[in-house]
Amino acid sequence: MEGKVLEWDYEIEGKDFRNAGKVSSKVKEILKELGFDPDFVRRVAIASYEAEMNVVCHAEKGALHFAILPAALRIVVKDKGPGIPDIELAMQEGYSTAPLEIREMGFGAGMGLPNIKKNTDELNIVSTVGQGTMVEMVIRSPLSREGSE
Ligand SMILES: Nc1ncnc2c1ncn2[C@@H]1O[C@H](COP(=O)(O)OP(=O)(O)OP(=O)(O)O)[C@@H](O)[C@H]1O
Ligand SMILES: [Mg+2]
Repeated sequence: MEGKVLEWDYEIEGKDFRNAGKVSSKVKEILKELGFDPDFVRRVAIASYEAEMNVVCHAEKGALHFAILPAALRIVVKDKGPGIPDIELAMQEGYSTAPLEIREMGFGAGMGLPNIKKNTDELNIVSTVGQGTMVEMVIRSPLSREGSE
């Protein structure tokens, strides 16, 4: 069965700490306004914030695409940047290559990707060193789990 798909696209600037987090705030605002379950909105907001911040902290520029599907929300964050040489290592809690100036701003704990993993139902990362990274996240709506509780 096919449903209507709502989708949005936003650009993310690397190293633009002044505007950092605005895209995920917008995503959160839209979902809240549409009346989604607060716990679902919280999970989506965390995942999109961490993916957005990774573009700001580690890449040159990127874009966030998000789509409301009939039973889930799909977010794709693509960037142009250095890429991730070892994704398994990058997924480990506490692993970070963030330089001092980024750590001084309070980022670089190495918790972003593990946090995305915890708050999503599906996570797919494709990265090419020297070119960029694509992070695809699917968060299933509580409605799609109706009847399971
Ligand atoms: N979009 C990206 N482009 C290039 N490298 C990335 C990207 N996202 C993550 N990484 C690499 O993976 C590491 C781990 O990412 P993760 O988000 O878990 O931690 P962090 O960004 O370093 O710190 P935190 O998210 O806690 O502020 C990063 O330090 C970086 O080396
Ligand atoms: Mg991060």
